[in-house]
Amino acid sequence: MIDASGCHVTPGFVDLHVHLREPGREEAETIETGSRAAALGGFTAIVAMPNTDPPHDTLATIEFVRNQARRAGLCDVFPAGCITVGRAGEQLAPLGELAAAGVTMFTDDGNGVQDPALMRRALEYAGPLGVVLAQHCEVASLTKGAVMHEGSCCSHLGLPGWPALAEELMVHRDIELSRLTGSPVHLLHLSTTRSVDLVRAAKADGLRVTAEAAPHHFALTDESLRSFDAVFKVNPPLRTANDVAAIKRGLIDGTIDAIATDHAPHPPESKEAALDQAPPGMLGLETALALAITELDMPLADLVAALSWKPAAIAGIADRHGCRIAEGAPANLTIFDPTAAWTVHPERLASKSRNTPFAGRTLRGRVRHTLLDGVPVVLDGIATR
Ligand code: DOR
Repeated sequence: MIDASGCHVTPGFVDLHVHLREPGREEAETIETGSRAAALGGFTAIVAMPNTDPPHDTLATIEFVRNQARRAGLCDVFPAGCITVGRAGEQLAPLGELAAAGVTMFTDDGNGVQDPALMRRALEYAGPLGVVLAQHCEVASLTKGAVMHEGSCCSHLGLPGWPALAEELMVHRDIELSRLTGSPVHLLHLSTTRSVDLVRAAKADGLRVTAEAAPHHFALTDESLRSFDAVFKVNPPLRTANDVAAIKRGLIDGTIDAIATDHAPHPPESKEAALDQAPPGMLGLETALALAITELDMPLADLVAALSWKPAAIAGIADRHGCRIAEGAPANLTIFDPTAAWTVHPERLASKSRNTPFAGRTLRGRVRHTLLDGVPVVLDGIATR
């Protein structure tokens, strides 16, 4: 018997965008600590980004991640494969071999694939393989040395700006490459008004284009950088209030399919560096649901869709996650109280890192229990393993 009074029982959440750091940067996060943070956030499945060391461009690394995740037993971890060898953007990774081993999503996240011919070829392979390519939309030559959104706030602060166009050019390019090849493309962490407009038009044309947005891109603006605190530095950067409104509209009207955290742990010493030295990224797994409930004025059923069955379908894991709740179906479930208020205390998070920009914020909505394949991995807000 589990007490679910005052709660909603929904299919488990699915996060398309998580950095687990293992292998290579275990001081920031491990597969175990990241999986625990995911379970506490209500996620029963997460897609692990490939920018590890070594990156996910061989079967050996993919198998290593899967084994570590199985050992932790806190949520299902689906490692995304690299699109290019070493995420270097020069040569295709062994997409066929990795797809045959069950990898359903590929990305060079952290980097966008700069070469349009290479991206076209990757899409031509991906379609017949039945996998999806996810793009980190950033034209790198436009963001060299940039630390924050290019706009009036950045001019006031005298900091090098990161233009919205750097994202929008690649969003546009990949929509057109999807049109050309007929292959699906998923656009990661959208942050600008024009990006949302481009995806809306692509969907109206019936293209196989999906998109996600991260909670920080609908909960924070570039004004946060006035503090010069690198906890607010992220890639793509926090944008303006108009962009925040566009991201919210995109989620509400379904242009943006999924809420994905881009959980990006970094140890304190690296985030305490000056803005131009500090790495981009912020924690997301344990605050995602509450930020969505607190910030988004949308029906709870649509919000759960964006957190559960829509991302499950994009990742190709809808046979086990985001399923209808029914007898005989896999019991990957999230049980949350939509009204519970709580304050974010970084030191109480399960993540190994502390770089949340929401420290001290009181949010509404809290996960009470999470069930993975019928087994409670979170009970009354506490991880059971
Ligand atoms: O802010 C970010 N951090 N964006 C990315 O695309 C990569 C990520 C990271 O790995 O830290």
